Amino acid sequence: MSTEASSPAKKQGAAQVQNTNGRKPVGGKEKVSKTLNELFVEELRNIYSAELQLLEALPEMAKAAYSEDLQDAFEFHHQQTKRQVERIEKIADRLRMSKMEESTCKAMQWLIAECVQVIERFEESPVRDSALIIGAQKIEHYEIASYGSLRELADVLGYAKIAELLDRTLEEEETIDKNLSLIAQDINDDAYELEHEKVY
Ligand SMILES: [Fe+2]
Repeated sequence: MSTEASSPAKKQGAAQVQNTNGRKPVGGKEKVSKTLNELFVEELRNIYSAELQLLEALPEMAKAAYSEDLQDAFEFHHQQTKRQVERIEKIADRLRMSKMEESTCKAMQWLIAECVQVIERFEESPVRDSALIIGAQKIEHYEIASYGSLRELADVLGYAKIAELLDRTLEEEETIDKNLSLIAQDINDDAYELEHEKVY
C-alpha cells in the first residue's frame, strides 16, 4: 500500500466518506456537510463509472465509424481507456477506497446514449461520422472537465503522486479531443462534397 495517505492533508480523508452534520431534509433529501476530500472521492468514483461505460461503448463506436481514421482513433482511445481505468484503480488503492463500482455516472450514460442513437438512426456515411465525432467530443469534454477538476483538488489536498496520474490522463483526453477535431475537418469536407454531388 502506498504512502499517499500519510500527510496531514491526506489523513483527514483517505476514503472516509461518511456524511456528518446532517441538516434538515429539503425536498425529501437530507443536506450534508462535505469535505474537499469527500468531494474528491465522489468525483473519482463518478469518473471511474464514466470510464467503465466508455470502455464498453468505444468498440461499438469504432465498428460504426465509416472513416478508417475515425475507427483507428476510437480503437486507440479504447486502449488508452483501459490504462485510464487502471490509473483510477491505482489512485483508489493509494487512498484505500473500496466499493468503486457503486456509483453510476448518469452524465456518461446520456452522452453514450446520444452516440448509440446516432448509430441506430443514421445510415453509414460521412455525416454519421460527423455526428459520432460530435458525440465523442462531448464525452471528451466531460472527461476533461472531470480530470481537470480532480487534478486541482488533488493538488490542494496534497496528493502529489495522484495529481501526476490524473495529469497523464488529462493530457490523453486533451490529445484525443484535438485529434477528433482534425479528423472532423476531413470528414465534414467529405460529407459536404457528397451532398454537393447529390444535389447538383
Ligand atoms: Fe477517458
